[in-house]
Amino acid sequence: MSGELTPVEHPRFLVLGAGSRGTTYAEHLARHPEQGEVVAVAEPDPYRRAAFAQRHDLPADQVFASWQDALAAPRLADAVTVTTQDSDHVGPALAAAARGYHILLEKPIAPTEAETRHLVESVQAAGVLLAVCHVLRYTPHTLALRALLDSGAVGEVMSIEHLEPVGWWHAAHSFVRGNWRNEAESSPMLLAKSCHDLDWLLAVAGRPCERIASFGSLSHFTRAHQPDGAADRCLDCPTHIESACPYSARRIYLGALEQGATDWPVSVITPDVSRDGVLRALADGPYGRCVYACDNDVVDHQVVSMEFQGGLTASFTMTAFSTMRGRNTRIFGTHGEISTDSRVITLDDFRTGERRVIDTAVDADDGAAGGHGGGDGGLVTAFTAALRAGDPSLVPSTAEESLRSHLMVFAAERARRTGQIQAVPQR
Ligand SMILES: NC(=O)c1ccc[n+]([C@@H]2O[C@H](COP(=O)([O-])OP(=O)(O)OC[C@H]3O[C@@H](n4cnc5c(N)ncnc54)[C@H](O)[C@@H]3O)[C@@H](O)[C@H]2O)c1
Repeated sequence: MSGELTPVEHPRFLVLGAGSRGTTYAEHLARHPEQGEVVAVAEPDPYRRAAFAQRHDLPADQVFASWQDALAAPRLADAVTVTTQDSDHVGPALAAAARGYHILLEKPIAPTEAETRHLVESVQAAGVLLAVCHVLRYTPHTLALRALLDSGAVGEVMSIEHLEPVGWWHAAHSFVRGNWRNEAESSPMLLAKSCHDLDWLLAVAGRPCERIASFGSLSHFTRAHQPDGAADRCLDCPTHIESACPYSARRIYLGALEQGATDWPVSVITPDVSRDGVLRALADGPYGRCVYACDNDVVDHQVVSMEFQGGLTASFTMTAFSTMRGRNTRIFGTHGEISTDSRVITLDDFRTGERRVIDTAVDADDGAAGGHGGGDGGLVTAFTAALRAGDPSLVPSTAEESLRSHLMVFAAERARRTGQIQAVPQR
């Protein structure tokens, strides 16, 4: 959206989908009541719904079993969070826009290019503010990096090398056993996970991406790699095989529990985070399956090559086969080089030979605000500030800008499937 917005003095939120993300954003508001407040929820899972209603002290008539019910009611709030699963963003976002709600929309905008364009056009026609939850744009790390680049610290940026090390057990959890394992149920890996990375590269490059190529496949997490004698569930697997497997669900989830972790990823597999509850989930649920015997089809490694306006080139690698850590980036300019691990930025100046090290770490104890390197809190802070000021320019991940980075993703997927370099549409 460009132009103005009627200011909203104290933004009230209806949370559509009180799962992991909906709860995170709501928690930020509960900790920062000066920014806004949660006044209603729609969530089909009775356990999550009740816990959320209790945490935010919601009256019964503001608690709904689905976004369909909540958006059929007279307007309850100023804004919604669309924090349902990937395949269920378009319906609630269109219905919310038609009712005049401002929208905090989880990525991806939609599973297909046509639906993405339609959603962005509909929201713009409705005149509401939409921010896509590209949280990486809002981290202190990204803000510091962009300020350095804007100040000319490395001269003109010529090349960028960017790595998303997903992490072996995180990949097994989310992209082999879990919610984002299957394209038909969610979306391709590049859209589900790495739309953040292409969006971030667009922000860091600060200019349009014009051409794109990509390679990648599901190579390892397939039946062909299941060890001889392994069972289809980790709890049933012979000990000598299970204990030698890096992806053992027993080790991942019971190991996390033994170290005192009862939140993500353990809380995703069961609401009962006792040892018995976790064992039951591993015996019966999807997260106890052998990684070589799942219904996954998304890639486990992928590269994308990009050419931006003016000749700046960038390469991106996503891999499941890494430790789990922050993204690593190197930026090569005419006067200097930057390397960063999403926290510490190291700048080498070719002219002076000097090295500057800037630590952009955030306070990890600040609950929701600390999530995604401070990006989760930064996003809600920016969105509510834009609503309060009636100024859409306070939100960098607008519908228009996020459409651009989604179009990069769709073009890259076309390139991967066809083996042909693709021109990136600019609208
Ligand atoms: N921005 C990020 O960094 C980031 C990180 C993780 C996930 N995500 C995205 O956020 C979205 C939600 O992910 P999540 O991990 O919170 O998933 P989740 O499964 O924990 O939460 C989704 C919730 O939606 C609820 N739901 C299902 N049908 C509904 C309906 N009809 N009405 C209302 N609620 C309904 C589910 O019961 C569930 O509680 C996904 O699109 C995901 O890709 C974004």
